[in-house]
Amino acid sequence: MQFSHFTLILLVSALGAEAQFTEGTYTAVVGGTSSNLSLLGNYYNYWVQATSSLWDLTRSAREPSPTTYTIPCNGARKSIVIEPTRSALVIIDMQNFFLHPGLTPKATAGRGVVNATVNMIQGFRRAGVKVLWTNWGLDNYDLLTMPPAFLDGFSNNHSSTTTFGTDMGVVPGTNISAGLKLMRGSWNARPYGPLYDLQVEGVKSGTDLYFNKNRLSGLWGAQTPLGLWLQENEITTLFFGGVNADQCVWGTFLDAYYKGFDVVYVEDISATTSPYYATQMVTYNANLDGFLSNSTQILSAIK
Ligand SMILES: *[C@@H]1O[C@H](CO)[C@@H](O)[C@H](O)[C@H]1NC(C)=O
Ligand SMILES: *[C@@H]1O[C@H](CO)[C@@H](O)[C@H](O)[C@H]1NC(C)=O
Ligand SMILES: *[C@@H]1O[C@H](CO)[C@@H](O)[C@H](O)[C@H]1NC(C)=O
Ligand SMILES: *[C@@H]1O[C@H](CO)[C@@H](O)[C@H](O)[C@H]1NC(C)=O
Ligand SMILES: *[C@@H]1O[C@H](CO)[C@@H](O)[C@H](O)[C@H]1NC(C)=O
Repeated sequence: MQFSHFTLILLVSALGAEAQFTEGTYTAVVGGTSSNLSLLGNYYNYWVQATSSLWDLTRSAREPSPTTYTIPCNGARKSIVIEPTRSALVIIDMQNFFLHPGLTPKATAGRGVVNATVNMIQGFRRAGVKVLWTNWGLDNYDLLTMPPAFLDGFSNNHSSTTTFGTDMGVVPGTNISAGLKLMRGSWNARPYGPLYDLQVEGVKSGTDLYFNKNRLSGLWGAQTPLGLWLQENEITTLFFGGVNADQCVWGTFLDAYYKGFDVVYVEDISATTSPYYATQMVTYNANLDGFLSNSTQILSAIK
């Protein structure tokens, strides 16, 4: 049956807040109904607010949850129930370029969250939650199509001679060749310090995956390698950490929220070189868009 746009508007307004449909034995609602106010969303993507302080994110009516963890949160939403195989840890830009003292001396906060990040990765691997390394890793096509604002922003002196893809020379204080700036496979684009061995080992054993990105966000535009993998694997709940909290972490977090994932900002595995108010903006808005937690709370809940 064909409806005109006008007829559809009339139908939708007649149904109002009670609009609902049935899929199999399960009645899903949009925006809640008088029959079940605790349910938000649709058959494919919904939360159940189990109590005034507990949000069940498992979508277990669609698919039973073999294992669940209840994780305390620090924001307005006080705790969540997750299913490990539908969740993932997204680690953003913990790369030499952003963290090595010879390349970014001021990244003390970022270097300060490395140990907590290592603990979080190991805990999530044990719990069967995938670890998704999401890093700058450009190829020649990315260079060709990169917008001028990015080329300028990532240059040292507002010149194409020092932007993405140019040779960074030797890392100050070392004998290491940094390689081409943020190009995939270069030394400067590798995970920093102990994270490099951890990433190589995790990808090899299959607990971790590695995704290149070519903007601040790893989920921008119609689709990205990370986005495609999340969709194909029916992942619904994402935990975020990395640098910089207000730039690449925030860009990816927001796109994930826009696309319908549950977003959990993990405060003590995220850091930035920006002024303090940038972190305040991130935590303020992460609380509005999703959930705030930290690695201590998460690791004690999943062990
Ligand atoms: C609302 O729906 C959820 C998910 O199916 C279910 O767990 C809960 O018991 C329902 N609540 C009521 C009052 O029916
Ligand atoms: C991080 O862990 C390493 C290895 O266990 C240790 O040597 C180092 O002191 C720790 N750093 C911080 C900042 O805690
Ligand atoms: C930018 O820096 C590079 C490398 O030091 C130098 O070759 C180039 O001339 C500089 N360009 C400008 C516009 O300052
Ligand atoms: C660089 O390499 C030279 C020769 O192997 C060595 O003498 C020097 O100590 C190294 N410098 C640093 C900073 O590692
Ligand atoms: C994690 O959050 C709990 C609860 O708010 C708090 O007590 C603890 O100090 C936090 N830990 C870290 C490492 O931030």
